[in-house]
Amino acid sequence: MRNNVNSILEKIARKARATAPLAARCPTLPYSGDGKTWQPAPFDGNSWWTGGFWPGALWLLYTVTGDEAFRAEALRGEDLLTAEFRAFNRLNHDVGFMYLLSCGANYRLTGSAQARTDCLHAASLLMGRFNPAGFIRAWNEPERVGYAIIDCMMNLSLLFWATAETGDPRFAHVAKVHADTTLRDFLRPDGSVAHIVEFDPETGAKVREHAGQGYALGSAWSRGQAWGLYGFAMAYANTGDKRYLDAAKAIADFFIAHIRPDGLTDCDFLQPKESRRLDNIAGACGASGLLELHRLTGENRYREAAERLVDGLIDRCCDLDAASCGLLTHCTASYHDDAAGVHINIVYGDFFLIEALLKLSGRDAKLWYSREASAL
Ligand code: GLY
Repeated sequence: MRNNVNSILEKIARKARATAPLAARCPTLPYSGDGKTWQPAPFDGNSWWTGGFWPGALWLLYTVTGDEAFRAEALRGEDLLTAEFRAFNRLNHDVGFMYLLSCGANYRLTGSAQARTDCLHAASLLMGRFNPAGFIRAWNEPERVGYAIIDCMMNLSLLFWATAETGDPRFAHVAKVHADTTLRDFLRPDGSVAHIVEFDPETGAKVREHAGQGYALGSAWSRGQAWGLYGFAMAYANTGDKRYLDAAKAIADFFIAHIRPDGLTDCDFLQPKESRRLDNIAGACGASGLLELHRLTGENRYREAAERLVDGLIDRCCDLDAASCGLLTHCTASYHDDAAGVHINIVYGDFFLIEALLKLSGRDAKLWYSREASAL
């Protein structure tokens, strides 16, 4: 690793001390920093799926600094998110991202009984999206009743957490059924994964794939590869099922083979050669997932690949200026749809970069782990 991880983390904490108070003045959670200000999510206010990453990043910084201002702002974010339980019809399978990183982190780090209750509430909402034909429904539009997406692999951690917390195996059973479906119907022989698979909601049979946020049908949306790699690694950590580890390793090999020489990450690994579209969120999330694989297997090649990614991000796409909102630059929400941001700062890029840095410094808070799996 070329960069000094602890010194970068100190700079990030200094920056957060200066910029978090600016977020506290807004009624909406930050989605993107544009220098002087924080911008809200482009759709659905605080119900937008990214809301948990702001409190999550602050909890991560709290674990290394003990700074009460970070805790207070994370709790403010959590209150905004739990208010969204009332807007039930706007929530979707991404309640895992939203509530595990807010209420779940709070409960893990402070023991708050209310946060535990709220996190179990979120787990029950995710359970309610399970179609016993074999998958967790992703989104709410009536025409997408049979859609499942690779991103959901990350949300399964909320279900594993709930089973460990309550002793009720139903949550983990559902997570395993969904992971098995993903293994069967998303993972390709070359180690890449599809973004969206549509199932027959009555029989569970695979109907077709959809292109989603990547370049094209059959391509390899880089963030989707990161979700799959990290999600299967966590499914293995939470179950010990070796098939999930093998899937994570296959996706990791594909991901590693596509890391650019400069350590940055193309938006889609199969985009046209002349395309210059980057998505550094994929690089940050991929790095954190690779570090998880390193922890689970002891194989150094995963750590080396993660270090190449993190060095690339820090050298070229990291805004460490304490006066400016937003850390990671050149984040892209979707290859074709520019509405949620192209080559901008986006909050979950910041979260995964901080998480990867904490793993590299040996101080990971293990926010995706159930209590039982935390011993790993
Ligand atoms: N979960 C949606 C995304 O990765 O953009």
